[in-house]
Amino acid sequence: MKILITGGAGFIGSHVVRWFVNKYPDYQIVNLDNLTYAGNLRSIKDIEDNPNYTFVRGDITDGVFIQDLFERHQFEGVLHLAAESHVDRSILNPLEFVQTNVIGTVNLLNAAKNLWKDNYEGKLFYHISTDEVYGSLDEGGFFTEETPYDPQSPYAASKASSDHFVRAYGNTYKLPFVISNCSNNYGSHQFPEKLIPLFINNIQQKKPLPVYGKGENVRDWLYVIDHAHAIDVIFHEGKHGETYNIGGFNEWKNIDLIKVLCKLMDKKLGRAEGESEQLISYVTDRAGHDLRYAIDAHKLMNELGWKPSLQFEEGLEKTIDWYLENQDWLHEVTSGAYQQYYEEQYEGR
Ligand code: NAD
Ligand code: TYD
Repeated sequence: MKILITGGAGFIGSHVVRWFVNKYPDYQIVNLDNLTYAGNLRSIKDIEDNPNYTFVRGDITDGVFIQDLFERHQFEGVLHLAAESHVDRSILNPLEFVQTNVIGTVNLLNAAKNLWKDNYEGKLFYHISTDEVYGSLDEGGFFTEETPYDPQSPYAASKASSDHFVRAYGNTYKLPFVISNCSNNYGSHQFPEKLIPLFINNIQQKKPLPVYGKGENVRDWLYVIDHAHAIDVIFHEGKHGETYNIGGFNEWKNIDLIKVLCKLMDKKLGRAEGESEQLISYVTDRAGHDLRYAIDAHKLMNELGWKPSLQFEEGLEKTIDWYLENQDWLHEVTSGAYQQYYEEQYEGR
């Protein structure tokens, strides 16, 4: 099988590429990534020489290039992860999110439709999406696959739009597709702008920990390798035309999570208990900050037999260890443009 994975130099994409390249030596895997600030080939260095793997640098917003790539490689499956993925950046620059997440996705859909339209047999367009398309929950309830879309941030709106386009291509052109909507991921190789890697980095450097608002927002955390596993299961066994929610029933209030992180880091760094908590600094809340996300993953668990593999503290420890042992990776991605973003995002908050 010839598979295109987009965004394979990013956080989740790098784990998905590694998973597929190692587990399926008979598949030919092409990783297409434009290497934005969030993409780093160092994250997949361990598999770059595998004979079933090819990297192509390219931009999904370039429709002509994408069409040509599909014709050259004759893909039979697509795993689409490339995206602008950070809510705070979407507040600073929404149009970039429309370009990549909406137009980029439609370019891929067009190319798949044009290549496959005479014979859809054995073909699949798998679109990887987020629980943020469902909006924000208050204290009770869960997002199910039937929850109406109600995106609240420019990022969520762009992902919701891309999901709608995928379903529209399924309905209009009969393109075989599947969509999954996953909760917040954590683990190694995540760019240190998202909560967990940013705070690990700041704790280590004894920099303030900028908690938005009162830290009362709730997120549902899943270990990234469990997400990669779910993607494998859905790609191979998911029913075409269906949506699957992915999550580990692991809700945490931000401030509680941050305190656990501080405690674990104190231990790892040989600091006195409570030292890192002193770095907590409450800052102006994110505009339109969603209160709570919580995924009901029963459909995936009951129909396809997937379940998460790790307890949260175990996954957090693995994640902290990885960042502490991979300072080169961290230094590489936090130089240059990162500094500029950090100042723009946090100065004066
Ligand atoms: P990421 O920001 O770490 O990586 C995105 C990758 O896409 C990068 O390698 C980047 O270079 C590439 N990319 C961006 N624009 C591109 C373009 N125009 N052309 C080609 N490549 C481009 O993102 P992530 O956290 O790994 O998320 C991957 C996917 O999973 C996204 O679609 C995201 O919406 C979804 N998702 C993420 C989470 C999460 O918690 N991180 C949760 C659920 C769903
Ligand atoms: P984030 O990792 O950006 O993921 P998302 O917004 O997609 O859920 O943020 C997770 C939570 O942490 C969210 O409620 C916002 C909060 N947060 C902070 O309090 N401070 C920060 O510096 C960041 C980046 C996030």
